[in-house]
Amino acid sequence: MSRFWSSAVHRLTPYVPGEQPKLLNLIKLNTNENPYGPSPKVLEALRKEAADTLRLYPDPNAERLKEAIAEQHGLKPEQVFVGNGSDEILAHTFQALLRHPMSLLFPDITYSFYPVYCRLYDVDYEEIPLTESFEIRPEDYNKPNGGILFPNPNAPTGRLLPVSSIETMLRNNNESVVVVDEAYVDFGGESAIPLIDAFPNLLVIQTLSKSRSLAGLRVGFAVGDAALIEALERVKNSFNSYPLDRLAIVGAIAAISDQAYFNETRERIIRTRTNLVEHLENLGFEVLPSAANFVFVRHPRQDAGELSKQLRDRSIIVRHFRHPRIEQFLRITVGTEAECGALIEALRKILQ
Ligand SMILES: Cc1ncc(COP(=O)(O)O)c(C=O)c1O
Repeated sequence: MSRFWSSAVHRLTPYVPGEQPKLLNLIKLNTNENPYGPSPKVLEALRKEAADTLRLYPDPNAERLKEAIAEQHGLKPEQVFVGNGSDEILAHTFQALLRHPMSLLFPDITYSFYPVYCRLYDVDYEEIPLTESFEIRPEDYNKPNGGILFPNPNAPTGRLLPVSSIETMLRNNNESVVVVDEAYVDFGGESAIPLIDAFPNLLVIQTLSKSRSLAGLRVGFAVGDAALIEALERVKNSFNSYPLDRLAIVGAIAAISDQAYFNETRERIIRTRTNLVEHLENLGFEVLPSAANFVFVRHPRQDAGELSKQLRDRSIIVRHFRHPRIEQFLRITVGTEAECGALIEALRKILQ
């Protein structure tokens, strides 16, 4: 605290990201990173770009990257926005499209950055409870609102809403923007991107942090009607002209072009998830159905906080949220087969 702080800063409650430990040799299953490195083509592109040209500013519009994303999804470049990770795009979306007199609606259990942005941008919000089985019920969103926002699959539950339900939501809600945060969609979900041409109020946000193994490079994108994208560009160009540096632009283009590597690694993660779920269930855990690169689990007889601590003592870190309704759950990132094997062994010892 300081008397030099603005009143806005006094009111903030910043987001606390999952721990990035300094210690090596930890099994890190706490922030949903990809256990496999980026495509070799990304590393090659980065090496080439690490040259004298770094003295020059990057393309402020990252045109080549927008073209690559547009081509991949059958869109026009003016339907694509790119940013420094999807968190930055979410922030611009709050400012550009969700800041209205009526409340923004999002699930009571969801990505915990959403209420943080609401406080930063002074956006009123209403949390819509998930069902008992932690599902989004589309009918619950049929009410006047200043916008609707949810991740699909949801985080931290991993549960997926079918695209047909998203379409129903859009049909019932054409007066405000519906934002689908598809950070984890590549691990078993179906994207809402094909609905964009039919619904000018749909914005879909994706990231290269998870399925493309580039959390460290910070690249995300949003796609939607050109008018929604223009709103994001107006905010971005009033904030930072160059959110993506030269390395990020070429690395992201290379990652998007290497579809074979993308398919190989995501299929590996999906296979590992299936095995992990089976082993966790054998140990007595309840595991919510997951379409993401993490699982959300609870044990009927073990306190989640205690389990998390005991795993940490064995050099394995998972995520435990001290939030109402989910304090007995752990969110566990799907790591390599070996990492998940070590997790299961550790849990077996703790539970015996
Ligand atoms: C639901 C969801 N949305 C967005 C993000 C942000 O991802 P990034 O800023 O790395 O693109 C995350 C990160 O964990 C997430 O879980």
